[in-house]
Amino acid sequence: MGFRLALVCSAIVLLSISGLSHAGVTSSYTRVAEPSEEMPLETFPPPAGLNAPEQVHITQGDHNGRGMIISWVTPINDDGSNFVKYWITDSDESTKESAEASTSSYTYYDYTSGFLHHATIKGLKYDTKYFYELGTGRSSRRFSFTTPPKAGPDVPYTFGVIGDLGQTYASNQTLYHYMSNPKGQAVLFVGDLSYADDHPNHDQRKWDSYGRFVEPSAAYQPWIWAAGNHEIDFAPSIGETQAFKPYKNRYHVPYRASKSTSPLWYSIKRASAYIIVLSSYSAFDKYTPQNSWLESELKKVNREETPWLIVLVHSPWYNSNGYHYMEGESMRVTFEPWFVENKVDIVFAGHVHAYERSERVSNIKYNITDGLSSPVKDPSAPIYITIGDGGNIEGIANEYTYPQPSYSAYREASFGHALLEIKNRTHALYTWHRNQDDEPVIADSLWVKNRHFLPEEEETLSGDSSA
Ligand SMILES: [Fe+2]
Repeated sequence: MGFRLALVCSAIVLLSISGLSHAGVTSSYTRVAEPSEEMPLETFPPPAGLNAPEQVHITQGDHNGRGMIISWVTPINDDGSNFVKYWITDSDESTKESAEASTSSYTYYDYTSGFLHHATIKGLKYDTKYFYELGTGRSSRRFSFTTPPKAGPDVPYTFGVIGDLGQTYASNQTLYHYMSNPKGQAVLFVGDLSYADDHPNHDQRKWDSYGRFVEPSAAYQPWIWAAGNHEIDFAPSIGETQAFKPYKNRYHVPYRASKSTSPLWYSIKRASAYIIVLSSYSAFDKYTPQNSWLESELKKVNREETPWLIVLVHSPWYNSNGYHYMEGESMRVTFEPWFVENKVDIVFAGHVHAYERSERVSNIKYNITDGLSSPVKDPSAPIYITIGDGGNIEGIANEYTYPQPSYSAYREASFGHALLEIKNRTHALYTWHRNQDDEPVIADSLWVKNRHFLPEEEETLSGDSSA
């Protein structure tokens, strides 16, 4: 409680000292409280008990929010190890239901995975807390989750936003800062999970330790996954030529429910939000599967039912950091006109290990001959947020381009996470929480106005002093 109070007080102080807009801020904050040094494998031993289920994580299992995919790993494929039992928390034992998982294992260079189980539960009641139990006998483990309310325009819902997390001491701080705030109901994850590929031969044990690391959150609320470059694991020099092999084996998503043909791009509805996940590292030009899917997908969004249209993609389109500068440019050129036409509210990206928020801008006038190649303010354009600041092994991205481009509203080379608190069809409170020593401190916040119901200009609520 004291901690929450401190957070609220920090927010009030920031609000009171900065009532006006801080467009174009480069934050001077540079402290990094914890090093982006990986926690050793021994930090995350498997749970006790014979064949105990581990690396438990859940994600939405259908398009509407009445399904959940439950995923876990067991060392052996014993009788009963591939079943999940589940029941509404206040119901009696006789109402327990059970679902069977699909079970598989994969090899990668000299590594063979445990048995990866994925069970999809469907037909859940909306807005209801469930228990679920995995494993057998004394090794069984119990978890819980709460389903979202039925989709509707004024259904409040709070998403956490995390990217490029990895498994360092800084990642640990980011994850526990997010978890220490009870508001977050589901996580929007913008790619780059374990960073196993930064180790010799893409040490797959790091995928296991990552699964154990995020379990305290990911077993209890859905993480909506997008894939980043660290999920590609394409390594022909060691005979591994199937891109995204570990990721696709370990993290299942409900892509078929949105008529997608690949788990790398898909959509879900959750409460008042429509979430579209894209893949920076799959073909997206005209005539490709991702392009065709997105074109028809955008037509399906009913803003009267889900006013908040949010896109997750790994490589940012508007990024003024020196790191990964312009890597997202070809996808921006391809898709940006659609995003403006469809009035996407926010695009969350990762990849760059720092934080940045854009103004509402578009750059869609250029047609080779007219020379109109500068971003311009556009009330129909999304806000682009780069939040690859989870704190992974590769460290902070702290080399900005100068002068700060006019499209860049706030940028800071720190680690942290964000919350998007959707209140109703017109307003959502967005806050970015930097890891400042042992506390998450709100360093950037904004009342986001919905592009369909209230396409007015927003004013920044708080921000650090200008550099
Ligand atoms: Fe990345």
